[in-house]
Formats: sequence, structure tokens, C-alpha cells
Amino acid sequence: MSSIKLLIDKLARQHDLSDAELLALITAEEKNTNAWLSAAADKIRRQYYGDTVYIRGLIEFTNYCRNNCYYCGIRAGNRHAQRYRLTQEDILACCREGYALGFRTFVLQGGEDPYFTDERICALVAAIRAQHPDCAITLSIGEKPRASYQAYFDAGANRYLLRHETADAAHYALLHPDNMSLANRKRCLFDLKEIGYQVGSGFMVGSPYQQPQNLLHDLRFLQSLQPDMIGIGPYITHAQTPFKNEPSGTLAQSLRMLSLLRLLFPYALLPATTALGTIDPNGRELGLQAGANVVMPNLSPVGVRKLYELYANKICTGEEAAQCRGCLEARVRAAGYRIVTDRGDVKRQI
Ligand code: 5AD
Ligand code: FES
Repeated sequence: MSSIKLLIDKLARQHDLSDAELLALITAEEKNTNAWLSAAADKIRRQYYGDTVYIRGLIEFTNYCRNNCYYCGIRAGNRHAQRYRLTQEDILACCREGYALGFRTFVLQGGEDPYFTDERICALVAAIRAQHPDCAITLSIGEKPRASYQAYFDAGANRYLLRHETADAAHYALLHPDNMSLANRKRCLFDLKEIGYQVGSGFMVGSPYQQPQNLLHDLRFLQSLQPDMIGIGPYITHAQTPFKNEPSGTLAQSLRMLSLLRLLFPYALLPATTALGTIDPNGRELGLQAGANVVMPNLSPVGVRKLYELYANKICTGEEAAQCRGCLEARVRAAGYRIVTDRGDVKRQI
């Protein structure tokens, strides 16, 4: 039998491997690798989550950002980006529409926008909490002091998404300017956990300068963090960034990392991300079949969707929330799964 197949079987039994073994899977050129990994990952996801897929309504509420990550289209230095902010009323209207469509989790994502002070974020969270007491409120607004995270939590936020992006400090420094550090990113993630948030982290696949070793370290870092959700997707080049000449990540490598994550973290919430759907029209469906169990359609008003452009050619920017919901329902069904409309909390045990 193929040594790669044997390694996959071992990973499916143990949910861990040595560094050398994981690296062998990350880099395997054997043509059946992804098919074997997908099959093993799908088996595990069905043991934990059956055929259910959780949905999260994503509200991209501001594309102002004080940071300058070299890969990101809404970086402060992108003078061509047309900036927008939603008002609290806009955001509450998105939540109301989402609620009617069956969403029980709202993800408020934005750049690190100084306009949204802690006071404003807390007021916003409290207003959503008051109107939707049965929903989970997820924030994804970047690096903050611990006291800010605590204040948002006290106002009613339950979950926080902050990708670590890459777990190697040297690689991190190639993707970000000097005023950002992996150390602070990690500090944020551990603060969030200690406060009591359900935490999501993750990384880009195929980001510039990424080596197989970096991906191994991403997996090891996630094992130390034990997040509830792990979001990954291919890096996709954006023309108005310093990385405009760098190639995008691939579908195949992204699917491979998704399956490895499912096998290492059987319990995890793994989204089939918009970036995956952007590099391939069938990307999200393939992501579900490779072990993902969450989709995060866009609830932002159609008028601003194109403006939240982290990377080129982002999908779903022309659809109404209801259209996205219906489209996803059909796509998830065609892939062999079923959308459920509860809060979709993590299942640490089967
Ligand atoms: N390609 C793919 N993903 C990107 N992100 C930011 N820029 C890009 C890009 N060019 C991801 C980062 C960030 C998340 C919100 O989007 O991982 O954490
Ligand atoms: Fe948005 Fe298909 S999921 S249009």
C-alpha cells in the first residue's frame, strides 16, 4: 500500500502525527493524496457533525483600516480603496434580515477602524444582543487591548475571529509592517480565550514566501491554541498591494490543508471560505467535501459588498442576502450536506 495512504490512515486514527509525517502529507505529490484525505476527513466530520452545515451571517461593516498588511486590499495605504462604514441602524437591519432568513450567528467583521471606539462597539453589540437574545454575536475586528475584548464580551459578544495568519515570526514579518507582530497576535488570541470567547483563528494558504515548514508550524500553533473555529483559505493576489506580483495560493493546497485540519481537529468548526469559492467556482462545495462544516454568506448591503475587497474577484458581491441564502442552500445540498439554522456551537465531544 502507498506510504501516503498509510500515513493518512494513521492520522485518522490518532489525530496527530510527527513533524516529519505531517510534512510528508503537506508536500506529498502522490496524485491520490487529496482524494484519500478528503474521504478520511469526511468520515470524521460525519462522526462529529453528521451531514449538517452551519451558517454564519457575515456583516462587513467597515473597510477603514489603520493597518497595512502587505497582502490585504483594504490596507490603509491603498489610496484607491473607496471607504465605507455602516451605521448601527444599517447593521441592525442586516441582522433583522438575516434573522428572518434563519441566521442565528452574526459575524461583524471590519478593518481596524478607529471610528469604532470601544464605546461604539459595545453599544452595537448590546443593541444586537437586545434584539436577538437567542443569537451568537461574533466579532472580527482585529487586535485590541485585553480590556477592550473584556468590554465587548461584557456587552454580549460570544465569539471572536482573529486569524494568526502565519505562526512563524520571520514569515509574519514578511507579510506585515514592523508595527505588527506575531507576539501581539498570539497575546490577543490567548486573552480572548481566557476571557471566555469561543475563538476562531487560521491562516492563508499559499501566502507569499510561505514554506511547507510554515504550514506545519501553523498546525502546531493551532494545537496549542485549540480554537473552536479554524478559518483558512487561499491567499489571493490584490492588484493594489505590495504583493501585486505574487502568485495566489492554489485550490488543491487549500483543500489539502482543510482535510489535514479536520483530521487533526475532529471537533472544529471549519468554514468553506469565500476565498475558496473565489479561486474556483466549485471551491466551497469541494471544501465541504474535504472536511469543512460551516459557510459564511454575506449579509452586508449589496451596495457596499464590492468595496470590502480584501482580494480580487470576490464572489457574491452582486447578490442580495436572500439570494445568497438560497444559492448556498442549493450548493450545500448538491455537495451532499444540509444547512441547519441553529447557533452551531462547537462539539468538543461526539
Ligand atoms: N487573500 C486571501 N485572504 C486574505 N485575507 C486578507 N487579505 C487576503 C488576500 N489577499 C484574509 C486574512 C484575514 C481575513 C479576514 O482575510 O487571513 O485574516
Ligand atoms: Fe452568495 Fe451563492 S452564496 S450567491
